[in-house]
Amino acid sequence: MEDTSLLQLLFLTSLLSSTTNQASLTVSPSSSQMFEGQSVSLSCEEDDSSAGWTLRRNTTRETRTQCGDDWGRPVGSSCNISYMAPWYSGVYWCESREGATSNSITITVTGGPVILQSPVLPVMEGEDLTLTCRTKTSSNLAAGFYKDGSFIRTEPAGHMTIHHVSRCDEGLYKCLISSVGESPPSWVSVTGKPNTTSSPITTSQSLCLPPPPDTLAPPLRLVIHMVVFCPFCISTLIMVSLYRRRAKGNGLPVAMVMTSPTQAEEGLDEDYDDVITAVTREHHF
Ligand SMILES: *[C@@H]1O[C@H](CO)[C@@H](O)[C@H](O)[C@H]1NC(C)=O
Ligand SMILES: *[C@@H]1O[C@H](CO)[C@@H](O)[C@H](O)[C@H]1NC(C)=O
Repeated sequence: MEDTSLLQLLFLTSLLSSTTNQASLTVSPSSSQMFEGQSVSLSCEEDDSSAGWTLRRNTTRETRTQCGDDWGRPVGSSCNISYMAPWYSGVYWCESREGATSNSITITVTGGPVILQSPVLPVMEGEDLTLTCRTKTSSNLAAGFYKDGSFIRTEPAGHMTIHHVSRCDEGLYKCLISSVGESPPSWVSVTGKPNTTSSPITTSQSLCLPPPPDTLAPPLRLVIHMVVFCPFCISTLIMVSLYRRRAKGNGLPVAMVMTSPTQAEEGLDEDYDDVITAVTREHHF
C-alpha cells in the first residue's frame, strides 16, 4: 500500500509539472474498433498550440510515424484518415516537438462484419460502461458478450451496460452476432476515482473474485463438495435417527394411549356405575 501511494504521489506530481504543456487525444467517431473503409478524425486537444503537437502511431508495420507522412491528412491540430485499413490497427498518440506525449488510444480496424464499440478512454470507477455490438448497417441486433474469453450474457438489442464499474470489470471484451460474426477483442480499462486514496483501489482489486469453481480440477471440486456438504449430511442423518428413535419410543405409549382410553373409559364408566349404584344404594338406606 505504501508503494502504491508513493506511486500515486509521483503520478500526481508528474501530472502537475506537465499541466503547462498538455494535450489529450480524442477520436471521432468515438470507438476503439472500426470497420475497414471507415473515415476517422483524430484530434490533439492542446493547451498550447505553439508546442507543435502532431499525431503519431505505432502499428504492426511501422513505429512512431507521423500523420501526413504517408497516412492521414493534417487539419490544424487534427488528423483525418479517409480510409481505415486493417493494418492501421495500433496505438495513436499526440507528441509535442519537445517530446511530451498525450494519452494514447488503441484502435482496432477489422475487415470482418462485426465490431464492438467500447470506450476509447478509461472508464472511471463507479460510472456505467456501455458496450455496443454492431454490423455496418445495424446496431440493434441480438448479440452475445464475452469478457476474457468467458460468455457474460446475450443482449437482445446489442447493447450491454455494466452499472457502477469496478476494477474487476477491467478486461478484454468481444461480442458475437450469430449468423453474422464475431468482433475483434478490445481492452476496456477502469481507473480509480481521482479523489480517493490508494487503499480503495488496491482493496477493490484484491476483492475481484477468483475464476468460478468450474475451472477447478474435478478431484478438488469433489473434496470441496464433501467438506461443504458432509457436515450438513451428518447433521441431517443425526436428526433423522433421533426423530426415529423418539417416534419409536413414543410409539408404544401412543399405542397404549390409543387403546387404553376405551378401556379406561369403560373402567371409569363401570366405576362410575358402581359409585352411582353405591350412592343410590346408600341413598336407599
Ligand atoms: C475531417 O474529419 C471530420 C470528421 O470526420 C470532418 O468533419 C471534417 O470535415 C474533415 N476535414 C477535412 C478537411 O476533410
Ligand atoms: C511505439 O513503439 C516504440 C518502439 O517500439 C515504443 O518505444 C513506444 O513506447 C511505442 N509507443 C506507444 C505509445 O506504444
